[in-house]
Amino acid sequence: MKYMNSIAYKWIMALTGWAWALFVMTHMIGNMLIFSGAKAYNTYSHFLVSNPLIYIAEAGLVLTILGHSFTGLFLFFKNRYCSKPLTYSVKPTRNKGASFSSQSMAYTGSFMLAFLITHLITFKYGTLYMVKYEDKEMRDIFRLVVEVFHNPNYVIWYIISLFFVGVHLSHGVSSGFQSLGLIHGKSRNIIKIIGYFYAIIVALGFMAQPIFMYFFYRG
Ligand code: HEM
Repeated sequence: MKYMNSIAYKWIMALTGWAWALFVMTHMIGNMLIFSGAKAYNTYSHFLVSNPLIYIAEAGLVLTILGHSFTGLFLFFKNRYCSKPLTYSVKPTRNKGASFSSQSMAYTGSFMLAFLITHLITFKYGTLYMVKYEDKEMRDIFRLVVEVFHNPNYVIWYIISLFFVGVHLSHGVSSGFQSLGLIHGKSRNIIKIIGYFYAIIVALGFMAQPIFMYFFYRG
């Protein structure tokens, strides 16, 4: 029974984690339209938020983040404070060659959750500017992004947060493969490298956005 539980926890962590890893990659790529200017970015954002499927996607994001966070924290405390930890540990011991990122998953994950809440308050529920393109009215989210990222405090906060997003992903992506039993022998190192690349692309791709806005955009 205990073994079954630990397998179920592994699957929950891996599948919900991957769903979010996929989301952040698509969010980062879509956001690159920031570099194409207000009209392109606002039209893209309007297309997303006015699509009826957005409600299903948002419900999925909320469910998966709750599943991932609560399961992760439950495992973290269980392994830390119970005399009989589950086989699946979110905090491997140092003598097994654990990296900083694997040791710190619970901390970087909790930080990301706090970041996410402030992020949604800043943008999704932030000031509602409107704009009109060819008689079509939509939210001017670009204006808000420009405004936010012309404040150096936000730029620093985003760079620090995105660093932790990268650290969390760098271990999370490869440990998802491991949890689902998809790593065999030599593939271990390749999967680890894929995890690092994925994390670097997401973190640097996102970081470029506040940096560009602060230092280069004078619209
Ligand atoms: C430079 C980095 C980022 C920028 C500029 C950015 C920008 C934005 C903007 C403008 C929105 C509002 C979209 C709209 O309502 O039209 C948004 C929503 C959102 N962002 Fe980000 N984002 C960044 C990083 C992240 C990261 C790292 C995460 C996850 C850890 C994240 C998760 C979300 C989520 C969940 C939403 C709400 C999506 C929805 O409900 O439709 N973002 N972001």
